[in-house]
Amino acid sequence: MIGLFDSGIGGLTVLKSLQSFMPDEQYIYLGDTARLPYGTKSPETIKRYTQQNISFLSAKGVNLIISACHSASSAILQFDIQGPVPLLNVIEPSCTEAMKKSRSKKIGLMATQATVDAGQYQRLMTSPFELFSQACPLLVPIVESGWLEDPITDQIIKRYTDPLMEMNVDVIILGCTHFPLLKDSIQKVVGPEVQLIDPGECLAQQILAMNRRPLPTTILDIFLTDKSPHFIKTAQNILPGQTLHLSQVDL
Ligand code: DGL
Repeated sequence: MIGLFDSGIGGLTVLKSLQSFMPDEQYIYLGDTARLPYGTKSPETIKRYTQQNISFLSAKGVNLIISACHSASSAILQFDIQGPVPLLNVIEPSCTEAMKKSRSKKIGLMATQATVDAGQYQRLMTSPFELFSQACPLLVPIVESGWLEDPITDQIIKRYTDPLMEMNVDVIILGCTHFPLLKDSIQKVVGPEVQLIDPGECLAQQILAMNRRPLPTTILDIFLTDKSPHFIKTAQNILPGQTLHLSQVDL
């Protein structure tokens, strides 16, 4: 059983990618919706939340934990957080994939302020690749509000991507798991020449390469620290046709 966690809805984009590559695996999901957003908080606070999320999922008996959140993944790398079971993050596989895809060797990163400040992408990116980072703090609340296709959303995306386009990046890492929900809008704004890197897809490839044995499942358990109606509605849109069992928990 694989346990994933995020501050909110964003990690479901990672779960969706995992399910499309590994449909027979069994998953549980923890959304720390009561304490969202993570991306504006200090590294120490994100570290504490991350450790609590890992403890919660371990107690549920998972044999692999995925930090489906870049802000938490930054803390995992920065503080070398370990779990009682293998712990994967979304930063390493997406960084590797971006370096594989970029021809100009100029790579853009759209992320939360916490992920940009933690500098883990910068640390992992090797010469001759250059990283241009852009914190996009307004995009998380936009996704959580469900404004996925809206002229205002496009304007904000343009404001954030213009500095990256000026640097002639040919690849942009969607360095926050909320952002794949804006993939169509981002692609429309930056144009078809720029490749967008979806961290969930990169992670799914990494797990497949680990050659894990699938287990059958039809139901997904989702644990939330705040049972928000928006989360429930959006989760059903992201994962259509699935039986979602939602429960509220304290960490
Ligand atoms: N989805 C998360 C990430 O990848 C966190 C967004 C937030 O809570 O600020 O960073």
